[in-house]
Amino acid sequence: MAILKIARMGHPVLRRRAEPVADPTAPEIRRLIEDMVETMIDAPGAGLAAPQVHVPLRLVIFRVPAERITGGAEDRPVDLQVLINPEIEALGAETTEGWEGCLSVPGLRGSVPRHARIRYRGLDQNGEPIDRIAAGFHARVVQHECDHLDGVLYPQRMKDLGQLMFESELRHYQVMDAEAEET
Ligand code: NI
Repeated sequence: MAILKIARMGHPVLRRRAEPVADPTAPEIRRLIEDMVETMIDAPGAGLAAPQVHVPLRLVIFRVPAERITGGAEDRPVDLQVLINPEIEALGAETTEGWEGCLSVPGLRGSVPRHARIRYRGLDQNGEPIDRIAAGFHARVVQHECDHLDGVLYPQRMKDLGQLMFESELRHYQVMDAEAEET
């Protein structure tokens, strides 16, 4: 296990489209997942995409902390989820604004519109299919992480860059929940 270096905004690996994972159970993928989990916990973060550790593959990990859930049936805590070759489908037209941070854009937070409710599909670390409906922070973190696989960082999704701020200032002026995670 190893803590990996996190690529920051401006590195080309964060701009490109990542490649599908051919075999989710391959030893090198297993090792990558172990290292990504250790890196995410160390950061600490709520999510991490393989391109953020300089690996251009369609693989993300995330967690939904209990303190971030809103309590709906589709918004439950998730301890740790591996999602490989994901596909996202928006359910309905509703979008919702929420504060996001990103380990590749350290120190900043931005208010980002996301689909309120999604269906996502993919494979887990054993190659087993995942097919789930998500709302709340769960839906947000999945959309944020999967954007990394298409070379998109959250500021590119923002409608108002006046809502891009240093986390230290937000904390100071109590504009947002100071505990919001980077992903
Ligand atoms: Ni991110």
